[in-house]
Amino acid sequence: MVAKKVKINNLNHSAKIFSGRHNRYFKDEVPKYTMPKKSMEPRAAYQLIHDELNLDGNPDLNLATFVTTWMEPEADKLIMENLHKNFIDHFEYPQVEVIEERTVNILANLYNIPEKNDFIGTSTIGSSESIMLGLLAHKWNWKHRKIKENKPYDRPNIIFGGDTHVSWDKFARYFDVEPRVVPIEEDRFTVSADAMKEKIDENTIAVGVVLGTTFTGEFDPVQEINEMLLEIKRDRDLDIPIHVDAASAGFVTPFYEPDFKWDFRLEQVKSINTSGHKFGLVYPGLGWLIFRNESLLPEDLKFYVNYLGDEMPTYTLNFSEGSSMIVAQYYNIMRLGAEGYTAIVKKMMKNADYLAVSLLNTGKFEVLNDAKHIPVVTFKFKNKEKFTLFDLSYKVRERGWIVPAYSLPPNAESITIMRVVIRENFTADMVDIFVNDLKNAFESLENGTGKPKHKSSRKGHSVS
Ligand SMILES: Cc1ncc(COP(=O)(O)O)c(C=O)c1O
Repeated sequence: MVAKKVKINNLNHSAKIFSGRHNRYFKDEVPKYTMPKKSMEPRAAYQLIHDELNLDGNPDLNLATFVTTWMEPEADKLIMENLHKNFIDHFEYPQVEVIEERTVNILANLYNIPEKNDFIGTSTIGSSESIMLGLLAHKWNWKHRKIKENKPYDRPNIIFGGDTHVSWDKFARYFDVEPRVVPIEEDRFTVSADAMKEKIDENTIAVGVVLGTTFTGEFDPVQEINEMLLEIKRDRDLDIPIHVDAASAGFVTPFYEPDFKWDFRLEQVKSINTSGHKFGLVYPGLGWLIFRNESLLPEDLKFYVNYLGDEMPTYTLNFSEGSSMIVAQYYNIMRLGAEGYTAIVKKMMKNADYLAVSLLNTGKFEVLNDAKHIPVVTFKFKNKEKFTLFDLSYKVRERGWIVPAYSLPPNAESITIMRVVIRENFTADMVDIFVNDLKNAFESLENGTGKPKHKSSRKGHSVS
């Protein structure tokens, strides 16, 4: 969302100022859209803002988000202890940098980087930044190849599916690369290698593959796409890199399906991003980007600055970055290890399965993807109803649940679905409560009374 100018003159008086019980703390009016002229006590400022933020939803009932909403108190403590360190100040905070470097190594190894490789990687503020940096590197590598071949380099294109996150479209638009989007279909919500192949030419800078699409949580066929690109390399002498967007799967698949080949075990996979703040189990915002080889990161993208105390290369889009989430990621890795991540991931997958079965048992929904790879369940109405999934989404919000309903991208835009991301705190018991609430919301819309047909059968859980 982009902030807009509010036309203050059109507002009535009470909308312009804070009011209410803050009279206990301050007598003067406090404006909302202009800087207050006077200071106020910390207690007053705290209460004012705290009270307003009570209007936000409860993060634990937010089934829409992939992003972590709970960490252990020890992680919270480390986060507080490092909140005031700017990560970019490597000279001042060298140990955070060491921890970042170790984490990059841990992830590269988790993604089966070949033993001999001189990989390179970085933390970012999220997968969007990682995707843009990764693709920028591929754009520059392609440009260098074209210059060497004495060919034009003004028409780069990139190929990805309609199932990708908006950050891919942003990259194409912001960095002036033609997006060649392979649409999804009504009977297939990911891309096919054949459909991608048709769009490739000598100006293709990279092919995007998503593991855990934002829409349904499914995987693009990464092995087939790798095979297709190897064939193109052999037959047409075009060496086109794959960038894997593992924003969601990057902390799931290595633990849940360690034998599934999606990472640097595939020859054309040259860069991978993941979100630490999704199943890496860290609060927002933290992303990671790993390149298969150091040589994939062109010198042009590195800048050297010496105004922080030492000559340092920087190649992120944003300069300053918090240290806390990097430290929190390292905490999770140390604390949980492979054993802990595996246990959590398996539990989430089990709860996702349980949710899919419970939804089917209501007789009201059809499950579209039953959490094969990541703990995401998507579903739609089994039959045609006189109300929409959007109505159901609003209705169930009355109980505090935040579940999005949305239509799929072209060519499946006629299909509307709901999605639930099963995070660690969404236990089997919560699944029971949620499905019961969803059923009640459904029935109250069905009979138009605003009330469900039956009272909840759960003890101590009344819905009327
Ligand atoms: C598949 C995929 N890629 C990229 C992103 C962007 O990630 P971030 O929010 O970490 O920038 C998301 C976000 O949900 C996503 O689902």
